[in-house]
Parts: sequence; structure tokens; C-alpha cells
Amino acid sequence: MARSCLAVVLAAGEGTRMKSDLSKVLHPIGGLPMISHVMKAVTGAGAGSVALVLGRQAEAVEQAAAPFAGEMSTWVQEQRLGTANAVLAARQVIEQGFDDILVIFGDTPLISRETLSRARAGLAGGADVAVIGFRTDNPHGYGRLIERDGALVAIREHKDATAEEQQIDFCNAGLMAIAGSKALALLDAVGNDNAKGEFYLTDIVEIAIRKGGRAIAIEAPWRETIGIDTRVGLAEAESLWQHEKRRELMLSGVSMIAPETVFVSHDTIIEPDVVLEPNVMIGPGVTIRSGATIHAFSHLEGATVGGNCSVGPFARLRPGADMRDRAKVGNFCEVKKAVVGEAAKINHLTYVGDAVVGAGANLGAGTITCNYDGVNKHVTQIGAGAFVGSNSAFVAPVTIGDNAYIASGSVVTMDVPADALAFGRSRQVNKEGRAPVIRARNEAEKRRRQKGEPKD
Ligand code: UD1
Repeated sequence: MARSCLAVVLAAGEGTRMKSDLSKVLHPIGGLPMISHVMKAVTGAGAGSVALVLGRQAEAVEQAAAPFAGEMSTWVQEQRLGTANAVLAARQVIEQGFDDILVIFGDTPLISRETLSRARAGLAGGADVAVIGFRTDNPHGYGRLIERDGALVAIREHKDATAEEQQIDFCNAGLMAIAGSKALALLDAVGNDNAKGEFYLTDIVEIAIRKGGRAIAIEAPWRETIGIDTRVGLAEAESLWQHEKRRELMLSGVSMIAPETVFVSHDTIIEPDVVLEPNVMIGPGVTIRSGATIHAFSHLEGATVGGNCSVGPFARLRPGADMRDRAKVGNFCEVKKAVVGEAAKINHLTYVGDAVVGAGANLGAGTITCNYDGVNKHVTQIGAGAFVGSNSAFVAPVTIGDNAYIASGSVVTMDVPADALAFGRSRQVNKEGRAPVIRARNEAEKRRRQKGEPKD
């Protein structure tokens, strides 16, 4: 039978070094709050229940965590007395009895489900405590993992370590798995007689051994274990996360000419044979179907790009942009909450918002949907096969029938029937022979100014 698992997620820290009004664990990586990444990892590692230990801004953190957790309860650590004390804030749920307890910090967003699963496997193999560690050239400040004969015998906090122990490069990531049947007895035995006067979670290793139990260390890749304290750390984590995500996408068949200049989000879906040119930014909620090309300097969020579409260069797809197969949205075009029908073309300098553009329609340069009256938004419908001359403005709500023609420079305020030609501009008047007269007048004015003569 599968072992039951509770994850206790510690997020009660003040995060003061972020210098932010936002709780530290709500800062995003790949467009998703750190705490949500942690939830995905613990849930992925089989933790059906989560106990979230919080300090301030509890409600917003709960909201970011809940969608990614199974059963979730929240607990407040009243006083910051140390990591063991923080875990005990969730005593009531620990008492319910789980096979495995995972303890994880809310500010370690890159931890993988695989590493957490390995720690759980350590418990299944008979350990009372399985601690996740990493190796680093710069172990200063971290708790050191002290091993003997392949077993973990202690974790020594930097401030409490001897000079010899400080030489150890195997460090505590702060994440561990504890046998559920022993957890409370171990945690309750932790004291605070140490350099910081805190109840250290790490002490449970020595306590477990004193009680005749066994502890092990699980080595994880350094990148997974990084904890975030400052904006510098946040940017480093973002960079590592982006690197990994781009690698996954490329291995799945997506081409990137300059991958280091492309940014994607936690939920980005890109099918094989898509090409992303340099400097493309993909925010949350984007799907790009096979064969599409996103040209350089394009910005997409909340958008769907159909198969074999072309976007950009310098295009902006905002939330609700829905490009059907083979559609084109070209340079300096913005599309928001609009369907761009199959093989429709919106190639230059255009704004299409709150609109439906039919299949095969062609919108000339400078086409604008005037969707907003200062209070409400209105819809523009452009029929299939319609041809819109350059520099036309659609004052919504307005409907253009299939295969209609709109003359260039029109301001369209009335519906246009299918197959009609609409002029929404004043008629042109030619005045024969007037150009030389105007030119002569302008040149006389220029001479007058140069001489500083007064106007007649
Ligand atoms: C901790 C580990 C250390 C490890 C390091 C890795 C302990 C005693 N030490 O040290 O061995 O190398 O992480 O980064 O565990 N927290 C609470 N309530 C508290 C105290 C902490 O919720 O009372 C949370 C914090 O929000 C933070 C995490 O626990 O997310 C770590 O706490 P912190 O005091 O920063 O531990 P470190 O000194 O980093």
C-alpha cells in the first residue's frame, strides 16, 4: 500500500532582505509564485496533505498555494523561535499520523519532485530521518552534514561548528523527510541551547541516533536546493529555471536561435517545430502550435498561436488573442481578446482588440479597432475574406460582412453588408493648376521671414 505523506512547508519568515511589501514566497519564478512551485514539487512527490506554516500575509500565500496542494491546512507560528518550533506549529495535523513527513522551506522553489521522492524512499528503506544535502565550494553559513560510515550522524549549524567541521563542503539544504511515527517525539526533544538560541530542526538527526534510530543524507544537485533571500537570489533562481525550461522545450522539438534571450513561463505550451527567434518574451497562459514562428522582439501573454502562424517581429499578443492556423500578425501589431481567423493577415502597425476577424481577411497597415468609449468595451466583427484598406478605424460595435471592401482611410461607424464596398471618408477634390500658386505663396513667405519683413 502506498505510504501516506504530509508536507510541512515553512513560510513564516519575514523575508526582510527582499525589501518588499510582498511576502517573499509570493515573488514569482517563471511567472508563478515560489510557494506554488514548492507545492507542485511536494504534491508531485506524493504528499497528499500539506501543512502550511505562515507568518504575515497569510491569506495571499494560502491562495497561491491551495490550487497546487491536495488537502491543505494552514498554521501560524506566533513567534519565530526556530525551524523545529515552526514545524511544531502544525502539531495537530502531524498527530493525525502519516507514514512520511516532508519538511520543506517555502523559499526553495527549484526543488524537484524526484529529489523529494528519493528522501521518502530513504524512509521506506528504514531511516528515521533523510536529509537533503548539496555540495558547494562556498559552504559558509550553511549547516554541515556530518557523515560516518555512510550514515548521517549530525547536522552542525555554521555558527556552532568547529573549525574542522567548517571544512566540510556537504551542506544541509534545509529539506528533510522524517518518519511520521517518530516525528513528534524527535521534534519535542529539540532544545535551544545553541549559538542562536533557536529550536533547530537539524538537531533531530542526533536525537534520532541517540534514540537508536538511523539518519541518512541524500545528495541533490546544488541548483535544486537554492533558497532565496534577496532579489539577487530571485534573479539567479529565475535564470536557472529559465535555462532548464528552455532546455526541455528544445529537447521536445522547439527551435531557439538564441535561447538565452528567450523567456517562458511556468505554463507555456509550445509544440514541436515552432521557431522562437531572439528576444521573445512569453508570459503566462500561452500555447503555440506546431510550425509557428515567433519572430524577434515579440511579447506574448494569455494568447494562443495556431499551427504555422507567423508572429512579429515586434508583435504584441495580449490576453485573449486567439490566432487560428496560418494567421499572420506582423510588425508593430497589437492583438487583445480577439480571434484572428485562419490565414487572416494583420501585417503592419495595427491594433485589434475585442474583435473577431474572419478567415482569410486582410487588414491593411494602420487598421485600428476603436473598442473603448472611455467606459465600456465594444466588439468589432470583420467577416471572412474582408479586405480592409490601410489606415481604417472601426468604431465598435460594428460588423463587417464577409468579403466586404473597406476603402483606405475610412472611419467605419455603421455595419457593412457582405460583398459591399464602404467609404467612410470625405470624397477627394482635385483643383487643377493650384499647386504652383500655393508653392509661389509659400516661397514668398519664406523670403519675407528671412529678410525679417513684417507680415502684410
Ligand atoms: C537553515 C538550516 C541550515 C541550512 C540552511 C539552508 C536550521 C536550523 N538550519 O538555516 O542547516 O543549511 O537552512 O538554507 O534549520 N523559518 C520559520 N520559522 C522560524 C525559523 C525559520 O518559518 O522560526 C523558516 C524561514 O522562513 C525559512 C526557513 O525556515 O524559510 C529557514 O530558516 P532560517 O532561520 O533562515 O535558517 P537558515 O539559517 O538558513
